[in-house]
Amino acid sequence: MKKQLLAKISSRKAVVGIVGLGYVGLPLMLRFSEVGYKVLGFDIDGSKVARLNKGQSYIEHIPAREVAKARKGGFEATADFSRAKEADALILCVPTPLNKYREPDLSFIIDTVESLVPHLRKGQLVSLESTTYPGTTDEELLPRIEARGLKVGKDVFLVFSPEREDPGNASFTTRTIPKVCGGVTSACQEIGLALYGAVIDKVVPVSSTRAAEMTKLLENIHRAVNIGLVNEMKIVADRMGIDIHEVIRAAATKPFGFVAYHPGPGLGGHCIPIDPFYLTWKAREYGVHTRFIELAGEVNASMPDYVVAKLAGALNQRRRSIKGSHILVLGIAYKKDVDDMRESPSVILMEKLRDLGAEVAYSDPHIPVFPRLREHTFELASVALTPQALAKYDCVLLATDHARFDYDMIRKYARLIVDSRGKYLEPAPNIVKA
Ligand SMILES: NC(=O)c1ccc[n+]([C@@H]2O[C@H](COP(=O)([O-])OP(=O)(O)OC[C@H]3O[C@@H](n4cnc5c(N)ncnc54)[C@H](O)[C@@H]3O)[C@@H](O)[C@H]2O)c1
Repeated sequence: MKKQLLAKISSRKAVVGIVGLGYVGLPLMLRFSEVGYKVLGFDIDGSKVARLNKGQSYIEHIPAREVAKARKGGFEATADFSRAKEADALILCVPTPLNKYREPDLSFIIDTVESLVPHLRKGQLVSLESTTYPGTTDEELLPRIEARGLKVGKDVFLVFSPEREDPGNASFTTRTIPKVCGGVTSACQEIGLALYGAVIDKVVPVSSTRAAEMTKLLENIHRAVNIGLVNEMKIVADRMGIDIHEVIRAAATKPFGFVAYHPGPGLGGHCIPIDPFYLTWKAREYGVHTRFIELAGEVNASMPDYVVAKLAGALNQRRRSIKGSHILVLGIAYKKDVDDMRESPSVILMEKLRDLGAEVAYSDPHIPVFPRLREHTFELASVALTPQALAKYDCVLLATDHARFDYDMIRKYARLIVDSRGKYLEPAPNIVKA
């Protein structure tokens, strides 16, 4: 089995199935297609399947022409999981959120595996890419696959290879971001490395699926903790009358031993606010309390309140209250230059301001209409930024510093700017850092 599969991979005759065609799965599909593999994309969302088959894209930074090119190269999307038997490799890129108790919600992974298992056959590789706690691959995937009568390491091969996608980052592509991969057995490992090595410049083997799962968590916990640290430093610096952004810029000139992280209005996105708690949950099974993660979570989660307090203080100086003020939030995506709103702190800010009685509006060149979100509703469309529009608001809150905003115009025409991103370097009477 191993030899045949390796031969199919090296001759590019292997059919690659990507399951979950979102921010992670779609670029991966494009890369396998670009190299010449036939790719089958699986998703439960029929509208995504239909759009991809028409050569369209639903992710802003992925141009439709790339999807159309992949279609010409043989890519096909489907919601029919029985077609999993056509694939030689199945790569799972489905969501791993937290439930309402902030515990891991593996239901997407389990549902996916259960839909695929009846169609698995000998000679396939299964790779899980979704961020998750150490043990998921061998505790959740392996027994389900083996219950079908297929021996992992002999009949089918199982690896964990964490995704490192950074949407909107123009400096790195799927090909140039090194890929970590750990297998259940050495044969699994060998096949996983061969598959990823065919499309990615550098593959990094680790000794087990658990080590690979933990690697991804370490990367994201490192970020969450350091962002928590600079957020705390921002509050201290502000009390002392020091500009934290100036300090970070200065510290970043040290050529070793310092990595610059930037404070903001809170954490957003699918990864950093969520993934650390996958480890917190699993660590409890081992009697370990993950104090750094909890502390960073606490500091980061308190940042929207800090920003609202700064905004209230700034309005107060102008003899106004939040109640009744017209406030324009700039940027509702969770980070600059993307259209992804998952866990965006801007939405938390908008809700807090609305609850305090403000008339809230937003402007975001990447999100023309406030989308339907499970837990948040705003019937709003993005305000076009003009001098007249800006001058109408009592306060403009810079929450996400998209490159497309005209910062000079904002400075010139906004009555009051509350800057939670350290975008404005020079002090001005209408700018308050938050
Ligand atoms: N977005 C990122 O920048 C990023 C970066 C690194 C890691 N990750 C991780 O990658 C994983 C996927 O994240 P994403 O951002 O691509 O999510 P996403 O929500 O953009 O995409 C997931 C896709 O999976 C589909 N899906 C859901 N259940 C399914 C099922 N049972 N079968 C088939 N398809 C199903 C959804 O319809 C959606 O299209 C997560 O574990 C995430 O933590 C994401």
